[in-house]
Amino acid sequence: MDKILDIITAKITKGFIACEYDESYGKVTISNRPDLCDFQCNGALAAAKKYKKAPMMIATDVLEKIKDDPDFESVEAVNPGFLNIRISNTFLADYANEMASSEKLGLALVKEPKKIVIDYGGPNVAKPLHVGHLRSAIIGESIKRNARFLGHDIIGDIHLGDWGLQMGLIITELQERQPSLVYFDDEYKGDYPKEPPFTISELEEIYPTASKKSKEDDDYKERAMTATLNLQQGKPGYRALWQHILNVSVSDLKKNYEKLKVDFDLWNGESTVQEVIPPMVKRLKDEGYAHESEGALVVDVAREDDTKEIPPCMILKSDGASLYNTTDLATITERVRLYNPNQIIYVVDKRQSLYFEQIFRCARKTKMVTDDTQLDFVGFGTMNGKDGKPFKTRAGGVMRLESLLNEIDEGMYKKINENESMSEAEARDTSKKVALAAIKYGDLSNQATKDYIFDIDKFTSFEGNTGPYILYTIVRIKSILEKYNATSTLPEDAKINPASNSVEKNLLLLLTRFNSVIENSFNELAPHKICAFIYEIANEFNHFYHETKILTQEDEEKKNGWICLLNLTKSVLETCIYILGFDAPEKM
Ligand code: ARG
Repeated sequence: MDKILDIITAKITKGFIACEYDESYGKVTISNRPDLCDFQCNGALAAAKKYKKAPMMIATDVLEKIKDDPDFESVEAVNPGFLNIRISNTFLADYANEMASSEKLGLALVKEPKKIVIDYGGPNVAKPLHVGHLRSAIIGESIKRNARFLGHDIIGDIHLGDWGLQMGLIITELQERQPSLVYFDDEYKGDYPKEPPFTISELEEIYPTASKKSKEDDDYKERAMTATLNLQQGKPGYRALWQHILNVSVSDLKKNYEKLKVDFDLWNGESTVQEVIPPMVKRLKDEGYAHESEGALVVDVAREDDTKEIPPCMILKSDGASLYNTTDLATITERVRLYNPNQIIYVVDKRQSLYFEQIFRCARKTKMVTDDTQLDFVGFGTMNGKDGKPFKTRAGGVMRLESLLNEIDEGMYKKINENESMSEAEARDTSKKVALAAIKYGDLSNQATKDYIFDIDKFTSFEGNTGPYILYTIVRIKSILEKYNATSTLPEDAKINPASNSVEKNLLLLLTRFNSVIENSFNELAPHKICAFIYEIANEFNHFYHETKILTQEDEEKKNGWICLLNLTKSVLETCIYILGFDAPEKM
C-alpha cells in the first residue's frame, strides 16, 4: 500500500501542478496542530519566494483545485499560507480496512532490497557477558528485524573478540595450574582430547585472575604475550586449547543470547580472518597506501577539511603484531568478498566512534569497499545506574548480564504472582516475557546515542512509557477479544467503521502511520521511533477503551466495527514489538 502521507501529498501536488507551480511544493506532513487539522502543506510559503507572489494567494489558488476531493473532510488555506487538511473518515476507515486485510499490514516491501551485514553483539570470548554487551545486542537485533521486515537481505554477524591477549592470558593461567596437560607438551604428536580441561565457570574465573596477575607481575604478562604470539603463529597445542575455550564460551553465549531472543546468522570472530591479514597488508604496502611511522605500519586517513584531528589508522604494531584495527579491516575485505554488501552497519559503544571513523576512511581510501557501499556506525551511549555512573552490582562490581536478567525475572515473577491466579509454569513464562519487554523497551525507547539510566523500578512498571505498559495494553485487547469470541463469531464482512468521534479518529490516524514508521525507523537506524509510535497507540487505545462500552454495545455493526479496530490495533502493536525483539503473554 502507498503510505497515507504519499497519497495526500500526491493529491496536493496535483493542485500545485494544475496552478502551474512546481510539483516539489506539494509535500504534506503530519500536522503538529491536531486540533486544527490532520495534515498540512507548507509549500505555498516556499513557492512564494520563487514565484514572487504572496503565499496566501498561492495557497488559495491551489485550494480551488483540490477542495472538492471527496477524501478530504475539509481543506483550508490559512495565514500566512498553510494548507490545513482534514481527511475524511471514510477514506481513513477504508485505508485501515485495507491494512487489516493485507499481508504485513499493507507495508510495501522495498523495491530494491539491499544486501546488508550488521555487526553487533561483539562479546569477548571467555569473559562473562556484562551489561555493556546488552545494548549492542538489543539495538542490533531490532535493526536487523526491521530491515528484514522491509524485505532487505540482512546478515547478522556477532564478531566475537576471540583472538587477542585475553586468549594468551587464559592459556598462561591454565599452564600455571595444570602444567602437565598435554597441550603444553611440545613433543606431543597425537590427537588432543575432545573434552575441554575446564568448565565455563572455571573459565570465567580464570580470565579475571590472569588479567589481575598480568597487571601486577611483568614476567607473567611477558609469558601471556608470548603465549598469544605462539597461538597466533599456530602452535598446535595452543590452537587445540583455544578451540576448547571458544567452544565452551560460545555454547554459554548462545544460551544467554537465546534468553534475550537475540540471534546471529554468523558466529564469526576476529580469529576468522587471520589468514586474510597477510595478503591484505601486502596489498596496502604494494599499492602505496600504507607507510611506516615510528616502526608501525599506518594508513593516513586525515583530510584537509577535518575540523578535529583524525590520527592515522594503524595496520601493524612495531613488533609486527596485528591489532583490533587490522582484524576489522580484514573482516571488511572478507565481507565484501563473500557477500558484496551494499551496506555494513556496526552497533558498537559510541566511545569507539573515532576508531570507526578511521576504519571507514581507511576502507574507502584503500578501495576495500566501493564508493557506494554505505558504512554506518550506530554508536550507543552508556547504560548508567540511578547514581548516573555506569551500571554496577550492589557490591560495586561489574554487573553480569545473567545476574541482571535473573534479578529482573525474579522481581517480575513476584509481581505477577501477586495478582493473578496463574499456574506456576504460566507465571514463570509470563514474567520472563514481561521482564524481557521491560529491559528491551527501556533500552530501545531511548535514542541509541544517548546515555540512559537503567532504572529497574521504572522499567518494570505497568504504567508510563514502559515495555510492560505496552504488553498490558495488548493483553487488555486480547482479553476483550476472547470475551467477544466466547459468545459471538465475527461476520466475514465485518469491517472498521468510519470514526464516530475524535478518539476513534486519532487511533486510526495513528495506526495508519504504521508503514511510514517502520520505513523511517530503519532508514534512520532509530528503533526508538517505533517505541514512540506504539506508546502513542497504547495511550490512544486506552483512552478509547475507557470511553467505549465495547461488548455491551447493542448495535451489532458498531460493535463488530470496534472488534475489527481492536484486531488491527493488536496486529500493529504485536508486529512492532516483534521488530523490537519481544512478545506479549496471554495474560498478565
Ligand atoms: N569486542 C569488542 C568490544 O568488546 C566489540 C566489537 C565490535 N565490533 C567490531 N567489528 N569491532 O569492545
